Amino acid sequence: MEANSGKRDQWGSRFGFIMAAAGSAIGLGNIWRFPYITGKYGGGAFVLVYLAFVLVIGASVLLAELAIGRRAKLDAAGAYRKLGGGAWPLVGYLGIFCGSVILSYYAVITGWTLAYMFKSFGGLMEEAAAGRAAESFSTFIANPYLTVICLCAVMAGVVLVVYRGISGGIEKSCKVLMPMLFIILLLLIVRSLTLPGASAGLRFYLMPDLSKLSAEGVLAAFGQGFYSLSLGMGITVTYGSYLSSKEYMPTMTRTIVLLDTMAAFMAGLVIFPAVFAFGIDAGSGPGLTFVTLPAVFAQMPMGAFFSFAFFALLFIAAFTSAIALFEVSVTYAVDELRWTRAKSAIVMGLAITLLGVPSALSGGGHIPEICGKGFLDAVDFITNNAIMPIGGIFTSIFVGWIWTKDALDEVTNRGEFKFKLYRAWLWVCRLVAPVCITAVFITGLKW
Ligand code: PFF
Repeated sequence: MEANSGKRDQWGSRFGFIMAAAGSAIGLGNIWRFPYITGKYGGGAFVLVYLAFVLVIGASVLLAELAIGRRAKLDAAGAYRKLGGGAWPLVGYLGIFCGSVILSYYAVITGWTLAYMFKSFGGLMEEAAAGRAAESFSTFIANPYLTVICLCAVMAGVVLVVYRGISGGIEKSCKVLMPMLFIILLLLIVRSLTLPGASAGLRFYLMPDLSKLSAEGVLAAFGQGFYSLSLGMGITVTYGSYLSSKEYMPTMTRTIVLLDTMAAFMAGLVIFPAVFAFGIDAGSGPGLTFVTLPAVFAQMPMGAFFSFAFFALLFIAAFTSAIALFEVSVTYAVDELRWTRAKSAIVMGLAITLLGVPSALSGGGHIPEICGKGFLDAVDFITNNAIMPIGGIFTSIFVGWIWTKDALDEVTNRGEFKFKLYRAWLWVCRLVAPVCITAVFITGLKW
């Protein structure tokens, strides 16, 4: 294959970029984890803390990452090398490495959602109605052939999209998939809210119960906000590197954060009313998406259709996040190793698929546990609790203390716009974000 020499691709439109960035942020974390931990930590009160975190700290780090990417017009490692030098590229390398590891298991779970879309019409409703949803799920994830096939199917899809490039692949598919995601969310909200007994779920979800909001809950809100915006992984640096210098980034940041928060909030409006309407325990853990909800759908008229719609929603959310994770390593291979996009997509795709096999097999106990956790859970824990926050802390320090002057220049499009919140943004990057993310990091290390 010839060496990479072409002009750098760019997002074709503002709408396209926003759909891709929202696609990266809106993922499994929004649809299941957000409603679930909101219920756990006190409903409305938790939502308020979450909102404060994403609007102040999440948005600041997101803007910082966009600015780094757009100024450098390089992959995550190259960007930190160009703008910071010294040991800074390590922050980029950490993101690229960790993003690939996250993708290896994220693609496994994306594969489960794909399989469940089809299972909705293939016996899942009957099994769930007979009270065997949990059994059906454990049998499914223990099947090494099915889980590995699903992983390969998802990775093949991701490679195909990314191979076609930024505007021709990622942007094109996100422009279709993301509006579809919001339409499905709306459809499911209408279904859920019109179930008899839905209001009890709404109360549980939204009534602030301050007594349930503990210090642990506050940190959980911070951690969720950070995870939800896909920060600290080089994703936004990479996506920003394809952004036109004409765009005003603070407004884009606001739109991305709002879309991500809206999707999470809307998912809660789907899940709680439905779960309460059928008197099912809402305290089920994150892994129970595949157990609790099929049981709910099995009791509804046209349950198979709604189950299909729900798993399609999860699939779209997960798939567009997987694309973003993959683009980080592909951009790295194109920019640093000088491979063509085709070669980068194929080689990286194969490597990550192989890396995902142990996670795909871990559901059946085919892989030894790591210190008491299944392989998939252990990798998830290490990447999200340990490595992601480190990326976030160093990104904010980099912008707040090291690359400060040029950051302002970049955010204002070289003085063309006025960024009124500049001082606030700077101090969030300097102090507030590093302190808050460090707290999340320290408390998150409990194995
Ligand atoms: N933001 C995604 C979600 O909420 O599910 C998950 C995610 C994707 C986290 C990519 C981190 C990441 F690098």
